[in-house]
Amino acid sequence: MKHKISMFGWLLALTLGGCSYNDIEYEEVKEGVSFKKDIVPIFETNCVSCHKENGMAFSLTSDMAYDKLKSKDLVTKENSILLEKVKAGHPRGNALNENQLKKIELWIKEGALEN
Ligand code: HEC
Repeated sequence: MKHKISMFGWLLALTLGGCSYNDIEYEEVKEGVSFKKDIVPIFETNCVSCHKENGMAFSLTSDMAYDKLKSKDLVTKENSILLEKVKAGHPRGNALNENQLKKIELWIKEGALEN
């Protein structure tokens, strides 16, 4: 009997744990995307290993990202090379998830501000 109870507790913990994990990973993407709060963290976890000063590609570190994206014309409303590139699965083998793609898309739709 004791065994059964602890087994149930373990299952419950697994289920609850699974839920909160999903909530964090796929929280709803709302309007009002902030470059600093929403986009830069994506760059920091997924891009700066290569995209940094003296790295193999142009810098996407928090201090450089916005200026670089603008000066290289990677995010104009009509022609978003940034969005095309990440939607096409760049970086290969470690592509962004649906949630991250949506954030970038919405940020561009809202004018690609340095907000
Ligand atoms: C494994 C290394 C690596 C990772 C990780 C990586 N990139 Fe790249 N990226 C490159 C290389 C190399 C190039 C081509 C060189 C260049 O354009 O500077 C490139 C090119 C690009 C370009 C096209 C630039 C142009 O002028 O056409 C964009 C946009 C881009 N990366 C965005 C990103 C974003 C956003 C992330 C994170 C989600 C990311 N990259 C992650 C290596 C990487």
